[in-house]
Amino acid sequence: MVIGYVGVACEDASVSDFEVRAAEAGEFDAVRAVFSAAMMFEVEPNDLAQQLFEPERTLVAVDGGEFIGTTLALTRTLSVPGAVVPAAHVTGVGVRATHRRRGVLSQLMGRQLREVPEAIAVLWASEPAIYGRFGYGAAAWGTAYEVDLHRVGPPAGPIRPGELGELTADDAVKELPPILDRLQQVRPGVSDRSELRWRKHLEDKPDNRGGRTALRIVVHRDETGSVDGYAIWRGKMVWNPTGPAYEVHVEELVAPEPTAYRVLWQHLLTMDLSATLGYGYGAVDEPLLQLVQTPTALDRRVSESLWIRITDVRRALQGRRYTVPIDVVLDVTDDLIESNTGRFRLTASGSSVSCERTDDPADLTLSITELGAIYLGGRPLAEFATTGRVTEHTPGTLTQTTAAFHWPLAPVSVEVF
Ligand SMILES: CC(C)(COP(=O)(O)OP(=O)(O)OC[C@H]1O[C@@H](n2cnc3c(N)ncnc32)[C@H](O)[C@@H]1OP(=O)(O)O)[C@@H](O)C(=O)NCCC(=O)NCCS
Repeated sequence: MVIGYVGVACEDASVSDFEVRAAEAGEFDAVRAVFSAAMMFEVEPNDLAQQLFEPERTLVAVDGGEFIGTTLALTRTLSVPGAVVPAAHVTGVGVRATHRRRGVLSQLMGRQLREVPEAIAVLWASEPAIYGRFGYGAAAWGTAYEVDLHRVGPPAGPIRPGELGELTADDAVKELPPILDRLQQVRPGVSDRSELRWRKHLEDKPDNRGGRTALRIVVHRDETGSVDGYAIWRGKMVWNPTGPAYEVHVEELVAPEPTAYRVLWQHLLTMDLSATLGYGYGAVDEPLLQLVQTPTALDRRVSESLWIRITDVRRALQGRRYTVPIDVVLDVTDDLIESNTGRFRLTASGSSVSCERTDDPADLTLSITELGAIYLGGRPLAEFATTGRVTEHTPGTLTQTTAAFHWPLAPVSVEVF
């Protein structure tokens, strides 16, 4: 997908005189430099990252020839309740410290959200305070674990000979994509990966290992020998005065089949010499909770993962499925995207979904932020009524709409993009 960004000066000249425009193909290094400066870490030159660069979907703020800010919209899909849809994956957001609080981010965000062709945008936020003002709602929580392996009591059950094996990165690029695709079918919140993106994901430069081992890619095979689950992890050797206390760092575990899921976790939670296991991408309803004997030993920490911004209410609400039939008029406010403001009738039953503008009276009033927060099915709409962020005009519609938007499995994102 290509967006025709046109290079124009920012609309409000009283704020500043910087220009916001699309990047050009030769500007990868300049974009990398401004993001490095903003994030206070060196984003190293990287061939794969350069090949993945989408200049026409990268906005830059330029002040007197100097790049002062940037934001990227990656072309990827995202699983949403009952479907997989294009979603602008927003990343690389940064403004030089010398140019903060002059409205640079506001200009970049406003233009990006008005111009992306996808009906939704999605991002991970470095700080939760940044994106709510632009209409993003926190739509998924992630769970990080710091597991005490001596206490946890790993999943029990047999492991067949030959069930587990390891893959090289080259083989993994061929064998793992269907497993991630299957997870996209099961849970909302999962982003697809092109072959190039898989290669980048599995790239394993020694300088980036943080004192840990090379990547280990362990796979589970079903009775026919097909891979049906995988874990990507690293180890770290640690010796205490009392003996070995190695660390297991799980970078990704995807196993939509129950046996593969159990066996992979059993394998990782019983690694010899090890005392702790870290994992950053659990869902709030992660099945592992059911499988270990002492869930408190997982030492879980919950925080926001995906933020959703609906850029086109009609297309976004038509793009997902609903758990129970619904017929409701939503009165939506959106300060940034005028076409999202107004009343929409949402009707859905099974795979038949329609969302159209209407003059009928509203059943519920809410802003684009709440709509984004409930879009992935992980947060109840009724939660926002308790703080006055949703108003019910027709009794019963809050409960009905909450039930319709909710999805049986919580959204999960297995990578920070
Ligand atoms: C966060 C960042 C992009 C903000 O850019 P900026 O150009 O200073 O933002 P703006 O001037 O457009 O600010 C718009 C509003 O957001 C607020 N805001 C900006 N950054 C904020 C932050 N980190 N926390 C809370 N509020 C913030 C501003 O105070 C301003 O509020 P106001 O309109 O009420 O005055 C920039 O400070 C930065 O690059 N930080 C480090 C890198 C980073 O965290 N990037 C985000 C990666 S997800």
